[in-house]
Amino acid sequence: MRRFSLGAAAATLALATATGAALAAKEVEVLHWWTAGGEAAALNVLKEDLAAQGVGWVDMPIAGGSGVEAMTVLRARVAAGNAPVAVQLLGFDITDWAKEGALAPLDDVAEAEGWEEVVPGALKDFAKYDGHWIAAPVNVHSTNWVWANKALLDELGIAQPTTWEEFVAALEAVQAAGKVALAHGGQAWQDATIFDSAVLIAGGPEFYKKSMIDLDPEALGSETMVKAFEVMKTLRGFVDPNFSGRDWNLASAMVINGEAAFQIMGDWAKGEFLGAGKTPGEDFLCFRVPGTEGVVTFNADQFAMFKVSDPEKIEAQKAMAAAILSPPFQIAFNTVKGSVPARVDVSDADFDACGKQAMADLAAADEAGTLLGSMGHGYANPAAVKNAIYDVVTAHFNGEYDSTTAAEELVTAVEIAQ
Ligand code: GAL
Repeated sequence: MRRFSLGAAAATLALATATGAALAAKEVEVLHWWTAGGEAAALNVLKEDLAAQGVGWVDMPIAGGSGVEAMTVLRARVAAGNAPVAVQLLGFDITDWAKEGALAPLDDVAEAEGWEEVVPGALKDFAKYDGHWIAAPVNVHSTNWVWANKALLDELGIAQPTTWEEFVAALEAVQAAGKVALAHGGQAWQDATIFDSAVLIAGGPEFYKKSMIDLDPEALGSETMVKAFEVMKTLRGFVDPNFSGRDWNLASAMVINGEAAFQIMGDWAKGEFLGAGKTPGEDFLCFRVPGTEGVVTFNADQFAMFKVSDPEKIEAQKAMAAAILSPPFQIAFNTVKGSVPARVDVSDADFDACGKQAMADLAAADEAGTLLGSMGHGYANPAAVKNAIYDVVTAHFNGEYDSTTAAEELVTAVEIAQ
């Protein structure tokens, strides 16, 4: 018996060593910021998919929502001549790295897998540079969502709000009942995430385009922009005293456990609800920020492959890129992450109610010309401009500027950053 176990252990060890050697040969080091519960669960789907194809995973997680910290680490790694093999990137950051010539072309994978026909145009604008594919989009998220605790709303007799005014009335009712009305984390990127919706509430999609995407100084300094800052001020009145610095997933947890009623956050928040065993429609509600319906401020996670010379690594990069856009993987991953597929030909059958709505909203917005890049997540303008907007939005949210001054500061900050 004893001899048998030893033999089995030795055989297992030999097998593990052989597999380990194979994995080590074909592996990707992946820099990402998916460290919250729902994010990590989705990341595991990717890790396992690659493992099944014999591609090993070297994890390089840099905590910090929206990747602010991850981008700092990436710059340092590239400057040191030690770029990661694969990197999670958003919007204009992809374009910026492509401009520097740092990204490996993925044209052969794209052609073999037929990406051209299935990836939505709004994503292609960023996944391609100068006619070449330089990133593989893994999902489509959007930022103009509200997540609500249904039991709490029922208990307080609050119906799902359908206009901005009704939303404010609902927030007031929750606050009056002694609960936290709006779960929020005071971090610049989270303030910017809700600013996407504030701009839409104040001026609609055309105004969003003019100010956030075209960076028209007149729009940036307009009365409508003052109104957007007033929306932010109103929302600021509904957060709890401990909001400063709180991570977004902890704010989601406040809604999940009934401490707070609402959170305005991208649909990665759904990953947290699902991870806690909650069901949409029963335990929580998802709906577009009232006053922004018909518009989708999108954000898509993409993986870019940094140039490497080792042929094994190049092969692993290609395997990863191909895996990311395969239809079964798109379903397996996005149903966990809270996002929707980055291809237009995937059925919504396996998605829950929020996912189905997200897919329908995306298609409708695309058709109507109201699928707009999220400023908060780097899809409206390059990092330098985005960071300048972050600074003004956060300073205003923390009471440093009144709304009129904030709009004036926005004009100057954006001008300097360009
Ligand atoms: C977004 C990203 C999402 C999610 C979120 C919070 O920028 O696209 O996938 O990770 O940040 O970390």
